[in-house]
Amino acid sequence: MISAARRVLRYGFELIERPFERLFGPALNPLSQLGALGFFFFWVVAVSGIYLFIFFDTGIERAYESVEYISRNHWFHAGVMRSLHRYASDLLVVMVTVHLLRQFAYDQYRGVRWYSWFTGLPIIWLLYGSGITGYWLVWDRLAQYVAITTSELLDRLPIFGEPIARNFISTGTLSSRFFTLMVFMHIAVPLFLLFLMWVHIIRISRPKMNPPRALALMMLLALIGVSMWKPALSQGHVDLAKAPVEVGLDWFYLPLYPLTEVWGRGGVWAFLGAFSLMIGLMPWLPPLRRARPAQVDLNHCNGCARCAEDCPYEAIRMVGRTDDLPYPTQAQVNPALCVSCGICVGACPSSTPFRRSEELKTGIDLLDYDLKTLRERTIEAAAALSGPGRVLIFVCDHGGGRRLDGTVRMPCVAMAPPSLFDFVLSRNLADGIVIAGCAESACYNRLGVDWTKQRIAGTRDPYLRARVPRERIATIWASALETSRVAAEIASFTKEIAKHPLQKLRAPQAPSVPAQPGNDRALTEVGS
Ligand code: HEM
Ligand code: SF4
Ligand code: SF4
Repeated sequence: MISAARRVLRYGFELIERPFERLFGPALNPLSQLGALGFFFFWVVAVSGIYLFIFFDTGIERAYESVEYISRNHWFHAGVMRSLHRYASDLLVVMVTVHLLRQFAYDQYRGVRWYSWFTGLPIIWLLYGSGITGYWLVWDRLAQYVAITTSELLDRLPIFGEPIARNFISTGTLSSRFFTLMVFMHIAVPLFLLFLMWVHIIRISRPKMNPPRALALMMLLALIGVSMWKPALSQGHVDLAKAPVEVGLDWFYLPLYPLTEVWGRGGVWAFLGAFSLMIGLMPWLPPLRRARPAQVDLNHCNGCARCAEDCPYEAIRMVGRTDDLPYPTQAQVNPALCVSCGICVGACPSSTPFRRSEELKTGIDLLDYDLKTLRERTIEAAAALSGPGRVLIFVCDHGGGRRLDGTVRMPCVAMAPPSLFDFVLSRNLADGIVIAGCAESACYNRLGVDWTKQRIAGTRDPYLRARVPRERIATIWASALETSRVAAEIASFTKEIAKHPLQKLRAPQAPSVPAQPGNDRALTEVGS
């Protein structure tokens, strides 16, 4: 049931994202930058909030008038800021909802990723806390409705000795101190939210916290446009003598409020409890699968730190050497953070397939699918190729090539060290190579596509040697639902390659290097 829901959602996302990216490119796809956009909207809300605070009167008597003054007399700057504050907060709710759904759809929330998912839950609560306390401050009819309904909801919980809803019976009963407390809450809760947003991403290496400039500018201009077109306005001064009968609701922050009348306060709490429990438990619901974490082999680790640089999950630390090899540091894997993507294997300079197979050991390897196996499968798949245009296809478990036959499959295409591609072409195992990974903006392992591109382009260590003819290597970045596109692109690349089989070229010969403990720097220069 959960898997079916995930598939349907994923299909929905792909249906929107892939054509969009073909038209505007991956950098402008807002759905692939939701976390970064979340930070961006937060900063818009924070800056506009500070601006508004200059004009806002925090006393209960003058709060409403000061907001009116902002919206009517100073509409062209403070009024626009008020609208920006409102609409960016609304977009933050949209972003959180779609971000949560997308992480679920792309199956990026289970296993080691439970941490980011789980810390997302208090973020949702605090986001709503921030928005609801904000509506309170305007002190208009909507604020009155929000204040009364929130107090009634809180009174349902056995927290407060005195029912707080009593504060709103008449102006006489409402103390200015209570209002000041709300102002304080509206500052403290977002600050705590920011702290949790930081906690949310500390386990992620190189988290995308800033959207590309063009996207941020477009969002800001759209927000300013909507703010001018439909300014956020108040709904008349609070009148505690009268119960608010009809108010315009903000459906982003207050969708549950009308439901208190249908379900009752207990019903709304039960719904919130069930929702939180479901979200909280989701990373541990079956089917659970977990491959064994990567393991360091000190005999082949020279402490170069490339694996730690490339790991997308902060799972590798460099620590002091524990053996007697003459290097100051060694890699250490934290098994609790490792998702077994194999990207570190592709990064390690010891991962060179030019060694004899029985000796093929590297500095860091996957226990369930090691480099030796990858090399063997590469040789087997190459041996099965025939005819003009022998193209060897490397695919990852999550991209558009995963359903094709005769491929060399791995958890992430960045597991393949560039020297493996050199090996295939220089040993004439194939005439060409296709690397088919995830869609550019939706790499399952976050950084696998970027690292592969940079290694092939020669801008990231370990890079593909200059002697490897780049025209014989094609990369296809496609999502799991684009199998037919991948097949078509492979067919057209094969046709091209068939016109120039490799035998006609002089294949460069690479020496076969036996493994020696600790000689990996030298090996890098030979094999990668
Ligand atoms: C203000 C709200 C939020 C912000 C600003 C935010 C921001 C981010 C950022 C910047 C990333 C890293 C993206 C990357 O570089 O790959 C991320 C990842 C993630 N977020 Fe959020 N997030 C928010 C709320 C949530 C919520 C509510 C959930 C779910 C309950 C959630 C679940 C996740 C998960 C599962 C990841 C992926 C971690 C991984 O790929 O290992 N986030 N978020
Ligand atoms: S397998 Fe992936 S997650 Fe684990 S240490 Fe290597 S790069 Fe990091
Ligand atoms: S030699 Fe390999 S395992 Fe050791 S630090 Fe470098 S990349 Fe990591």
